[in-house]
Amino acid sequence: MGYLLGFDVGTTGSKALLIDEAGNVVGRALSEYPLSTPRPNWAEQDPRDWWDATVAATHSVLAEAEISGEQVDGVGLSGQMHGSVFLDKDDEVIRPAILWCDQRTAEQCQWITATVGEADIVKETCNPVLTGFTAPKIIWLRDNEPENYGRVRKVLLPKDYIRFRLTGEYATEVSDASGTSLFNVPQRRWSQLILDRIDLPIDFLPQVYESPEVTGTISTQVAELTGLKAGTPVVGGGGDQAAGAVGNGIVQTGVVSSTVGTSGVVFAYLDKPLMDEQLRTHTFCHAVPGKWHVMGVMLSAGGSLRWLRDSLCAAEQAVAANTGRDPYEYMTAAAATVPPGSEGLLFLPYLTGERTPYPNPDATGVFFGLTLRHTKAHMIRAVMEGVAMGLRDSLEIIKDMGVELTQIRASGGGARSQLWRQIQADVTGWPHCTINVDEGPALGVALLAGVGVGTYNSVAEACQATIAVVDEVEPDAARQQWYQGYYQLYGQLYRQLEGSFEVRQRLVLDQSR
Ligand code: XUL
Repeated sequence: MGYLLGFDVGTTGSKALLIDEAGNVVGRALSEYPLSTPRPNWAEQDPRDWWDATVAATHSVLAEAEISGEQVDGVGLSGQMHGSVFLDKDDEVIRPAILWCDQRTAEQCQWITATVGEADIVKETCNPVLTGFTAPKIIWLRDNEPENYGRVRKVLLPKDYIRFRLTGEYATEVSDASGTSLFNVPQRRWSQLILDRIDLPIDFLPQVYESPEVTGTISTQVAELTGLKAGTPVVGGGGDQAAGAVGNGIVQTGVVSSTVGTSGVVFAYLDKPLMDEQLRTHTFCHAVPGKWHVMGVMLSAGGSLRWLRDSLCAAEQAVAANTGRDPYEYMTAAAATVPPGSEGLLFLPYLTGERTPYPNPDATGVFFGLTLRHTKAHMIRAVMEGVAMGLRDSLEIIKDMGVELTQIRASGGGARSQLWRQIQADVTGWPHCTINVDEGPALGVALLAGVGVGTYNSVAEACQATIAVVDEVEPDAARQQWYQGYYQLYGQLYRQLEGSFEVRQRLVLDQSR
């Protein structure tokens, strides 16, 4: 029997997932790495850490599944999007990669938009230029580290650096390329117009494929290092959101996913590259050949609850370490004792700025409404509710674009909590389903590998063969009513604080100079 291997080079670690042809998971492994924030609003990682973690995860997953690399028919790659890996003429990493959640490039975004012209940017890329995207990172390097910039020969996205190490090929695919601000999304190719106007050579960029296409094969050297077989095909794969959508079966009109990982994403399939008129959501190529998708991206969803765990929940973590359980179980149990609306405590989840619905790198997290009555349990619940309200913002925009919405599938770490799924259903007024597998992007790209090597005839067929809805939570009418008022206040708070966010940011920057 043949197996398919999917990698997800995430923000916290590199995951390897092995499935059989029926989609059964036969092995999974995660190897973690650090993230550094050398200055406020900066986020960087060493791409060599991703590689070491991917090699370690490959060994572990083969050992866990008790299979040999000879039995792996195909490999798919997914990963955090938008990050920039700068390689020199010897393919050495020049400096740490600048990540998707890094907010240093506001000035470069403005410059690119002014230089290319806003109308052409939108016509070519279907999106505004945002601080997290890749092009402003390259321009930032040119503006701020000219010596490093002078050494650049290739700029790769995170998963494509791993592809390069696995196969020796410089390649990417349409879904991840869509998040660079250098890609013509309707035409599915690099935008020569943008490259010319901002004076970047196309040679910096890798060749682009559709997601299930074979982009190269495992090299002999890597085969020796990892136990995989030399010559095993590696397909394009997808950025984590498009790949995660394949892993959730979001490959047809009407089925939408709401994923709470570090980021929070509402994702809908599109036959045509439709856009929100105010450009609050992203319109990118899908990992389904010839199709697109729209998504709203919150930067700190699960990341907000993780922040709370790490900064205020040492006790829950200690108990969890003693009982062998997950600290989030204790945190959500505490949140369940608090009434909906957290007795008037609201949380704005903008801990690393925001993208949807407010593309604002200066926005920050806010607890509003704190009183003596509030406890840590209230804060936990308020964070879960604030994230659900942010997800509702994206759903409302997508609905208003006229995108058909018949089913929402909750996924990501956040979907493991029954309470959080219920809060999402109550806040949005939509039932939230769960599916039989919760392996996200790594599963999606393992399936894409299956399409690439001929195990399945199409992405839709791969999803049909492996993915099914198993559960659904319904919104409760009374709670939905309560949340309606809090949701309005939540939106009002952002609007009232917008100017204050900017002033605060100036103060912080002045102090760090
Ligand atoms: C999508 C996005 C995140 C990152 C990290 O636009 O920025 O999903 O890919 O997960």
